[in-house]
Amino acid sequence: MTDDTTPAPHGFLWGAATAAHQIEGGNVNTGHWELEYAPGSAIPEPSGDACDSYHRYPEDIALLADAGLTAYRFSVEWARIEPEEGVVSRAQLDHYRRMIDACRDRDVEPVVTLHHFTFPRWWEHSGGWYSDRSTDRFRRFTEICTRILDDVNWVITINEPNMMVNQTEARIDTENGVNFPGPSPHVARAIAGAHHASTEVLRGFGGVKSGWSVANQVFQAVPGWEAQRDEWQYWREDFFLEQAREDDFIGVQSYLRTIIGPTDDAQGFGPQPWPEGTERTLTGWEYYPEALGHALRHTREVTGGIPMMVTENGMATSDDRRRIDYTAGALTAMQDAMDDGCDVRGYLHWSLLDNYEWGSFRPTFGLVVVDRETFVRTPKPSLSWLGDLARRNVVPRR
Ligand code: FCB
Repeated sequence: MTDDTTPAPHGFLWGAATAAHQIEGGNVNTGHWELEYAPGSAIPEPSGDACDSYHRYPEDIALLADAGLTAYRFSVEWARIEPEEGVVSRAQLDHYRRMIDACRDRDVEPVVTLHHFTFPRWWEHSGGWYSDRSTDRFRRFTEICTRILDDVNWVITINEPNMMVNQTEARIDTENGVNFPGPSPHVARAIAGAHHASTEVLRGFGGVKSGWSVANQVFQAVPGWEAQRDEWQYWREDFFLEQAREDDFIGVQSYLRTIIGPTDDAQGFGPQPWPEGTERTLTGWEYYPEALGHALRHTREVTGGIPMMVTENGMATSDDRRRIDYTAGALTAMQDAMDDGCDVRGYLHWSLLDNYEWGSFRPTFGLVVVDRETFVRTPKPSLSWLGDLARRNVVPRR
């Protein structure tokens, strides 16, 4: 199928995204690694060598650049940079500096995430977000990172803070006692505090544009259940969008939608099952590329219109043609939102590589296949398809 196209704004960034723990391999000093290898672990598959990108990043960046893409989003690993509290590894900082240099050498704009889901073991063992030192610790980590960020223009402080909070739902909440039934406002505020401390450091430092990237879940209501939808959504999304109002930009991450309506449990409302016959991706999610348009519009509404960048969007599938269809659909929705005034500065696809999806290598989101034994990289047709849009700087319309 050939698409109509619309020119993208001058300087629009076209790229792909990754995260350290999902691709580097051997990330042994993180709490996540510890959980993966704990006896009787509930995590189906450990990360092991992942894609060995810790060593092969020059090849990853070259693949992306050769295809025509102009931006690479990657994360630095706190557990490597600060292996024990207060101990800074100069060698690991240098490693990430070399990644930035590798991007610059190829005219690729680095978009650097400071925190993407994983923590050093010492953090997990000393209270995590429940420690009253969490803000200071993240501020200090940001200060350490600034040593290598001098020519970096885009920094994401924390990836999907709202998903991190969702994952703390079953924990003891210091404000509300045990088993708080829903995302913990206490943890949400702690993460927001860390984000604000981090952006404060970054603001005082050169020309960096800083913000965080929020998972936009496109909450839609069963007719008549709008008030419950709004309640469900607040601590899972909108609180985090509100925190971005003073930021330089916000990362918009979108995959699917969540429909809120009646349920049989004590709360009486929540996510609805997908109707029989709904097309599902390898993560079990609904195939719904239109989500990105909704996500951008909702983000603009809640943040008051700060610049946005799509920092993740994609589909887990073994059928690369379907990935291209999904992405074309999502980009069409993005362009419609831009036509309606949404200020979008770039599109970064999730993901560059088939990677470790937090417990399994099975959901393949990559533009590039990675052989699990040899680490040989083989680009998929979707990589050159996206690269071609980047070279022409046009958005497809389907
Ligand atoms: C997002 C995460 C990213 C990846 C995608 C599929 O929630 O930020 O690491 O796992 O989902």
